[in-house]
Amino acid sequence: MKNITVLGIESSCDETSVSIVKNGREVYSNIINSQIDIHTLYGGVVPEIASRCHTEVINQCTKRALKEAKMTLVDIDVVACTYGPGLVGALLVGVSYAKGLSYASKKPLVAVNHIEGHIAANYITHKDLKPPFLCLIISGGHTHLVYVKDYSSFEIIAKTRDDAIGEAFDKVARVVGLGYPGGPKVDALAKNGKPVYNLPKTNMEDLSFSFSGIKTAVINLNHKNPNLNKADLCASFEKTATEMLVENTKLAIEKINSKTNNKVDKIVLAGGVSANSYIRQEFSKLENIKIYYPELKLCTDNAAMIASAAYYKYLDGNVAGLNLNAIPNLKIG
Ligand code: KG4
Ligand code: ZN
Repeated sequence: MKNITVLGIESSCDETSVSIVKNGREVYSNIINSQIDIHTLYGGVVPEIASRCHTEVINQCTKRALKEAKMTLVDIDVVACTYGPGLVGALLVGVSYAKGLSYASKKPLVAVNHIEGHIAANYITHKDLKPPFLCLIISGGHTHLVYVKDYSSFEIIAKTRDDAIGEAFDKVARVVGLGYPGGPKVDALAKNGKPVYNLPKTNMEDLSFSFSGIKTAVINLNHKNPNLNKADLCASFEKTATEMLVENTKLAIEKINSKTNNKVDKIVLAGGVSANSYIRQEFSKLENIKIYYPELKLCTDNAAMIASAAYYKYLDGNVAGLNLNAIPNLKIG
């Protein structure tokens, strides 16, 4: 089969990224321009600032991605971009830029769902990974259990009813004074603590998640006892939140396997929170199940994962027109 080289663009939140990937698996370049330093001043992402920053750097990121891959646009077969979900102004920068590039270079345009991109990050790290598998997507904006039947066939098994787990990590970090973005800081501090506090588990019977209860419990506990050990609080939060993830994931596997002869024995973690060392450790303890997660730099937002997902969409003939628009609340599947 002919090689397909995709130039992918990601701009859904606070990372501008451009990447060049061959056949969905081989990364030639993956330029990531993070805006974290700017948004840290405000304690979270400011949408208007995010859009402006994307506009300022997207052309430079594209030039760097091509240079690092030792390519020009002539070597590119497909232009791809994230078109949702995400911040509308931020998404529009990437979508408009990709449309311009596609039109000028006469290369087909492929539109990628950001969540499907997070799943595809695993295809880059694990060259032998193929669907079907169960994917737990845990990020700043999403907590989804998705049955990946094929590269472009998804069934949502459950999702969060309120906060995403990454939001809860970031809130806990802010409450204990660790700052933004909190996930990696909670991860590090929890290693010095013991899970001595009882926090509520709030999984629903239909396998939906809910993280607002545990988030509020941490806020109240900290408010009532301002001198409590922050490392213990982080460890307690991490332990309880992880138990919620593991318990529902195990039930989801049982649910899928009760309905299909083709038994699922692979769990794939994806999204920024899949970088968490405790979550990785606890999932790795599951018996008779193989666990996959992306290498650290592919857990958080990047364009290599978008280019990988685009490759499989392109093989399916799923090409977008120049009337493509950003869809901030785009659903998976
Ligand atoms: O996937 P991502 O880059 O953006 C979204 O699509 O939402 O995820 C960002 C989220 C943030 O909430 C961040 O705090 C969290 O991932 N995160 C972590 C860790 N590294 C990043 N959470 C827990 N432990 C980590 N090591
Ligand atoms: Zn993301």
